[in-house]
Amino acid sequence: MAESLSQKDPQTGSVHSLSVRLKTVYNLILPKRPLWDIGCDHGYVGLHAHHNRLCTEVNLVDQSREVLDSTRLRIAEWFPGGTGEGLRVWCLDAEREALPISAGTVVMAGLGTPTIVRVIANLFPENVPTEVRVVLASTFTGERLRLRLMRLGWRLQHEALYLENGHVRQILACGAEGEIIHPFWNEAPISADNGLLEAYLGERRQYFSVCQSRMPDLLHLRKSFMSSFGM
Ligand SMILES: C[S@@+](CC[C@H](N)C(=O)[O-])C[C@H]1O[C@@H](n2cnc3c(N)ncnc32)[C@H](O)[C@@H]1O
Repeated sequence: MAESLSQKDPQTGSVHSLSVRLKTVYNLILPKRPLWDIGCDHGYVGLHAHHNRLCTEVNLVDQSREVLDSTRLRIAEWFPGGTGEGLRVWCLDAEREALPISAGTVVMAGLGTPTIVRVIANLFPENVPTEVRVVLASTFTGERLRLRLMRLGWRLQHEALYLENGHVRQILACGAEGEIIHPFWNEAPISADNGLLEAYLGERRQYFSVCQSRMPDLLHLRKSFMSSFGM
């Protein structure tokens, strides 16, 4: 099922730079270990890791054949002389199918909390694996993700806030060792200092002020839209 794209050494062409969001994800990857980017889509994070020889192997995983067709075109463009050893592309549904992950970093960025939780439950059904770090940037309901991870026994290794399209999002790195994941915020100084924590809490307050209503997410989106565009 995995497609190995091995040649002798990677021969690189021009490489697209990473957005702030993806750079934040990239900086949390454990070097010199395997990397699994689940829901990779464009594949930028893994392709940068492969280009920079950051990891021992890079696995790009996505359930969409169409998405991976474009990613393969990107790979051909970025590595015109061949990819070298250690880059693999997997087309499968990570919520249901198995992947041989025993060590390294598992990235899930741009996926919803329910999807991330189902993938983790599928990939690590027994215990939190000791050699694995998960780097998670969910699109929404980050508090719910924290709660689920805490209950599953994951520990917090790093958390930060970053801006994405005018909204403050959180990123978590978790593993078998680390702090207890508090459901809301662990007071990492890195984000408290740059003003993002205040902005993030403001957004959350706005979200929770409407979340008792019948259509909380729609109402929250409408309020955010109105406050962003002054309507
Ligand atoms: C919005 S994109 C995020 C791309 C990239 N990770 C990023 O953050 O920019 C989400 C991708 O996850 C893939 N995806 C969603 N559920 C999946 C699953 N269960 N297994 C594998 N891929 C999945 C989708 O096909 C899509 O390409």
